[in-house]
Formats: sequence, structure tokens, C-alpha cells
Amino acid sequence: MIKISHVSKSFVSDAQKVKALRDVSLTIEKGQIWGIIGFSGAGKSTLLRMVNALEVPDQGFVELDGRKLADYPEKELRSVRKRIGMIFQQFNLLESRTVYENIAIPLRLNHTPAEQIAARVEELLAFVELEGRKDAYPWQLSGGQKQRVGIARSLATNPEILLCDEATSALDPDTTESILQLLAQINQKLGITIILVTHQIQVVQRICNRVAVMENGQIVEQGSVLDVFGNPQQPITQRFVRTVIPDELPESLVADLQQEKREYKLLKLRFQGEVAKENILYNINRRIPVESSVLFAAVTELQQVILGIFIVKFIGPAKSLAATTEYLDRHNVVWQEVAV
Ligand SMILES: Nc1ncnc2c1ncn2[C@@H]1O[C@H](COP(=O)(O)OP(=O)(O)OP(=O)(O)O)[C@@H](O)[C@H]1O
Ligand SMILES: [Mg+2]
Repeated sequence: MIKISHVSKSFVSDAQKVKALRDVSLTIEKGQIWGIIGFSGAGKSTLLRMVNALEVPDQGFVELDGRKLADYPEKELRSVRKRIGMIFQQFNLLESRTVYENIAIPLRLNHTPAEQIAARVEELLAFVELEGRKDAYPWQLSGGQKQRVGIARSLATNPEILLCDEATSALDPDTTESILQLLAQINQKLGITIILVTHQIQVVQRICNRVAVMENGQIVEQGSVLDVFGNPQQPITQRFVRTVIPDELPESLVADLQQEKREYKLLKLRFQGEVAKENILYNINRRIPVESSVLFAAVTELQQVILGIFIVKFIGPAKSLAATTEYLDRHNVVWQEVAV
């Protein structure tokens, strides 16, 4: 378990003080995949680097399996770092070394015997599906292949935690997908905890089970991907989530609504899990004298759970509209009134 507790960190550059992290707390359980999302400068990389003690907090502390990183003598910290792999946007490979040599670097630093290195590198090449490319140089590889080498190198010493800083940001969508699949496999097959820093919400949606949203050095929202994506609270989270799960009415429909003379309520409904499979609208129409028309619908699957967002216009007398929202409450449908 990684526990980040009330961590603050400032940098001074050009005589200006920048508060990179402000009172950040986050607990990461073994086996989870966390996405840390935010715009440029939010403090994501600084937070990630706290985990392997490349940055040291000004205030607060980082704990690994119950022991504070600050309490480790430098020599022991080195062995802690071996339990933590890291991959980067720019891959950070040695251009003058072959794929084999790049992957072998952490093993050589560990004084692993040569024949064990050879066996381990072959094993890693197979895992990242780069068999037969061990004699290639980085400049002969595509971006996706370079990231696979970076991943193989990060796994060489069997880490328990993998830190990924914008690992897919330099890749095209198809290559991103294949790297994300590889990361998901690393998590599932090897049981490695993953912390993934990104500014791409699709990346979080695709493989993370937990998410923390950062803005201006703070974590403004965190939780399970399902909860946060299903009902984002902060404006910045809503901005991110909206790009993958739209939940707003097209403008032409808004104009139509402004002409509506009858009494109506415009509701945004969120159906999550089993409730998404029930015939809620049908049942409302059968029981309550209201007319309903669906103006907008989006259905997504997150972590194998169905999330449906509907914007529905219910038309009828006030009493029926009140009965409608009562019915929704009784059936655990999250709803909110939409203003136009
Ligand atoms: N070593 C440093 N010296 C001075 N300022 C720094 C240093 N590292 C980070 N900062 C500043 O701290 C703030 C947070 O930086 P950080 O790199 O953590 O952001 P980020 O969210 O990773 O951004 P990006 O998406 O652009 O990578 C920024 O204002 C940055 O300029
Ligand atoms: Mg960064």
C-alpha cells in the first residue's frame, strides 16, 4: 500500500515560488490501477515522483507498506526504488545501445550474472511481444515498440509498482490502445500496482479502476472510475468526463424547449449497473399520467458496469411530475433537473 499524506511541495525558479503540490492525500492499495489526470502544470509528475522518492515533500509524508520513505537511509532507499518501475512519454532509452542492452541495464546495475540476464531479457522480450528485435537500436523502432522496450526495462527487476508518466501521450490511438492492453496485462498477470499520469481521459476510462483529478497542485476529486465518471462533481472533472461521456443537450433542442408551452420537467437521469437494464421509463408511463420524451441518451460501459445518461422531458401536471421524481428516487435512479 502506498499512502500519500498531506503532501505539499514548492519549487523556486526565477526567484518565483511555485506551489506544485498543496496538501495532497491519496491511498493506493495493492493491485489497483490509478489514473492521475489534470492539465499541464497541475502537479501530476511531481506527485508521481514522490512515490519513488525522486521528490521529497516539504510537508506531509509518503509511506510504502507502512513505513515512511523519509525514514529510509539512502542505501535502503535504493532497494526500495528497485521495487518501483517507471516509464516515460519520451521512453528514455539509450540510443547507442541495442534493445537487449537497454532492457539489461537494471539487471547489470543489480550485478545479475550474465546468463541470468540473457534468460530474463528473452522472457521480457516475449512478454512485450518484441521477440527477434533484441539487436535493433531504438532509432530503428516505432514509438510503440520503443515504449515496449521501456516497459520491458521497467519490469526487469520484478517491481511491485509501475509508475507511468504520460506513457502513451506520444503515440497514435491504435498504438496507445496496444500499450494500454499491455499495461492491463501487467496489472492482471503480474499483480503489479500501476499509477498512470495522463492528460487523456480516454486512457483513464480504458484501464484505470481509480482516478484522481488534479488542478493547481491539489487533488480536487478522487474515487472509483465508475463513481467519478458516473457523477463528476467538480467543473474540471465534468470537462474531462464530458469529452468521453457527453451529457448535454444539443443547442437546437434547447431552442425547441424554450418554445414549450405545456408544463414540463427536464431531467437528467443516470442509470448505473442493474438499474440500467430495467424499463424505468416504460414503468413510469404505465403508472403515472406523464408523457416522456427522450431528448438525449448516452450509454457507456465502465469497469464492466453499464452507465446510461438520459435527458428526458416529462410533460404533465405538477402532481404527476412530482410522482415521477418520487418514482425515480424509489428506484435508485440518480436524477437532476436541467435548466434551459
Ligand atoms: N524541478 C522543478 N523546478 C521548478 N519548478 C518545477 C519543478 N518541477 C515542477 N515544477 C513546477 O511545478 C508545477 C507542477 O509541475 P508538474 O511537472 O508536476 O506538472 P504536470 O501536471 O506533470 O504537468 P505536465 O502535464 O505539463 O507534465 C509546474 O508549475 C512546474 O513548472
Ligand atoms: Mg508531467
